[in-house]
Amino acid sequence: MGMKVVVMLMVILAIITLMSSNVNAKEKVCSKNWDCKNSKFCCNETISDFFQAYQFENLFSKRNAPVAHAVGFWDYHSFITASSLYQPLGFGTTGGHLMQMKEVAAFLGHVGSKTSCGYGVATGGPLAWGLCYNREMSPQQSYCKEDDYKYPCTPGAEYYGRGALPVYWNANYGIMGEALKLDLLNHPEYLEQNATVAFQAAIYRWMTPLKRKQPSAHDVFVGNWKPTKNDTLAKRVPGFGATMNLLYADLTCGQGDIDPMNNIISHYQYYLDLMGVGREEAGTHEELSCAEQELFNPPAPAYSTT
Ligand SMILES: *[C@@H]1O[C@H](CO)[C@@H](O)[C@H](O)[C@H]1NC(C)=O
Ligand SMILES: *[C@@H]1O[C@H](CO)[C@@H](O)[C@H](O)[C@H]1NC(C)=O
Ligand SMILES: *[C@@H]1O[C@H](CO)[C@@H](O)[C@H](O)[C@H]1NC(C)=O
Repeated sequence: MGMKVVVMLMVILAIITLMSSNVNAKEKVCSKNWDCKNSKFCCNETISDFFQAYQFENLFSKRNAPVAHAVGFWDYHSFITASSLYQPLGFGTTGGHLMQMKEVAAFLGHVGSKTSCGYGVATGGPLAWGLCYNREMSPQQSYCKEDDYKYPCTPGAEYYGRGALPVYWNANYGIMGEALKLDLLNHPEYLEQNATVAFQAAIYRWMTPLKRKQPSAHDVFVGNWKPTKNDTLAKRVPGFGATMNLLYADLTCGQGDIDPMNNIISHYQYYLDLMGVGREEAGTHEELSCAEQELFNPPAPAYSTT
């Protein structure tokens, strides 16, 4: 009697052990690199394996020029430190070597174009001036929406654009602060005082759906997102174009070949070249552009005004 029960218990235990070791075999967890720990995404190459300090210097070669506006602020180490929080979730670690390089180029392409002070006549060309700014220089307003009870403005605080993918408005500082566990509503200046925090906020925005039932920029870029019939009818296809649609909506997309869109694409292509991937890997025009895409519904919040 007692013997039978014990045998049965042992059999059940053995089955459970087998099942859980099967699960472990599927979800292999690694801690190969210091910058990517305890996730299946860390088993492959991580960002610092294929994107090194000298490449960061190439991409952002003019950021410490005397006329730049955030001299000494941005560096490679802050980017890698910030990315270490998101690599275990797939940032720059998804889909194999080529896709990983492309995702870093795409993310930094957005950052470069949003922080550039390069113009047609700038030395080194207009694309060499990414990370020239870490804040909006001459805000025309304080970006405070007064009737926001969830994220009320702190008296005296200004919510102009700051960071690597600039954050604007009290509500967006509030949401970002909750995500990063920093009191950005009371201290919006953290985003222009600490490059790691600035990159962290930008990568968070890249990795996170901004609206319910929508994909993240990361998801549409690496191919995690499968378009519905409606998406296809609206010309929304996976790729770089859809990342612009999600992040900036009508400021950039659905309006034909406009400059704000072409500027972001040019930075992405320039970085692909500099990283040795080559711009021909950027995909078809349809994937790269959002000129003809209808906006995701509802469209992205007005995070960005540039
Ligand atoms: C790891 O790399 C292999 C081969 O490139 C790839 O098939 C796999 O999807 C990668 N793992 C993850 C989690 O992206
Ligand atoms: C910048 O922020 C990071 C992440 O919150 C923190 O670990 C680091 O100490 C900060 N650096 C400075 C100089 O405050
Ligand atoms: C697809 O588009 C149609 C027409 O715009 C709309 O009525 C319908 O709700 C959409 N379906 C989904 C799943 O969004």
